[in-house]
Amino acid sequence: MSKTILITGSTDGIGLATANRLVTQGHHVLLHGRNPAKLKKTQQSLSALPGGGRVEAYVADLSHLPDVATLAQAVTEKHGKLDVLINNAGVFKTAETRTQDGLDVRFVVNTLAPYLLTQRLLPLIETSGRVINLSSAAQSPVDPEALAGRVSLSDDYTAYAQSKLALTMWSRSLALSLNGDGPAIIAVNPGSLLGTKMVKEGFGMAGGDISIGAEILVRAALADEFAAASGQYFDNDIGQFASPHPDALDPQKCGEIVRVIEAILVTTTQL
Ligand SMILES: NC(=O)c1ccc[n+]([C@@H]2O[C@H](COP(=O)([O-])OP(=O)(O)OC[C@H]3O[C@@H](n4cnc5c(N)ncnc54)[C@H](OP(=O)(O)O)[C@@H]3O)[C@@H](O)[C@H]2O)c1
Repeated sequence: MSKTILITGSTDGIGLATANRLVTQGHHVLLHGRNPAKLKKTQQSLSALPGGGRVEAYVADLSHLPDVATLAQAVTEKHGKLDVLINNAGVFKTAETRTQDGLDVRFVVNTLAPYLLTQRLLPLIETSGRVINLSSAAQSPVDPEALAGRVSLSDDYTAYAQSKLALTMWSRSLALSLNGDGPAIIAVNPGSLLGTKMVKEGFGMAGGDISIGAEILVRAALADEFAAASGQYFDNDIGQFASPHPDALDPQKCGEIVRVIEAILVTTTQL
């Protein structure tokens, strides 16, 4: 049966490869990108694929949180129901590391934007649905002061690894708070050093086969083996569910991160 699936950051890398597979399988794919021309080109090429899946496109810069709220609104206006949300968009290295709000771009795009988008779209996603959050093997203890923009992080890797653990922590916290009364919330490391733009620019290496990441996202989105995995972390470096960083299994620490996220969203989106 055809599912309706929103994939953020589907103009490149793992997100694009995942969208490609899902359209080919006949699913209705909602593409998202920040660059209108690149997004249009992606929509055109995916619409021409065999398989018959419908393709829509949404523009939003996820480093600007009010745009995330607008994206959720646009999706809600067109869709009464969403089967799967894949929070894939992510950033590692960037010329400008601070947003206008004084936050680190890695926390905004990798942690806060997917949190806000998920919260806003939850009413559309039934209990049989899924939210797949792109985590990483890079996970470092989160400094709440850095998350809130009051402390600067010294390097790209630290900011990225903290943003990914923060995402993994809120994923776990949300799954526990929904307690089955909502979609499955699953964090997935798609595989390390896959050869995307992020890895080429960030690590200066060719990297591995992107399809490793796309295949696990398709499985996480649709396969029965992930249906009862809410709150879990799938590590595709070892091809199985695994323990994330211990902080993501600590309810108190996860709760603190969620409180900081909520406080930031109040001030940055006036919501
Ligand atoms: N590659 C790996 O080995 C690896 C390992 C672990 C986790 N991951 C995670 O997998 C996800 C996909 O990464 P990737 O490797 O495929 O990277 P990528 O090729 O750089 O793709 C990232 C996607 O996110 C979009 N994006 C970035 N900043 C954005 C913003 N401010 N607003 C909206 N969209 C934005 C990009 O848009 P543009 O097309 O406009 O640039 C692109 O579509 C990320 O969350 C990453 O952290 C990747």
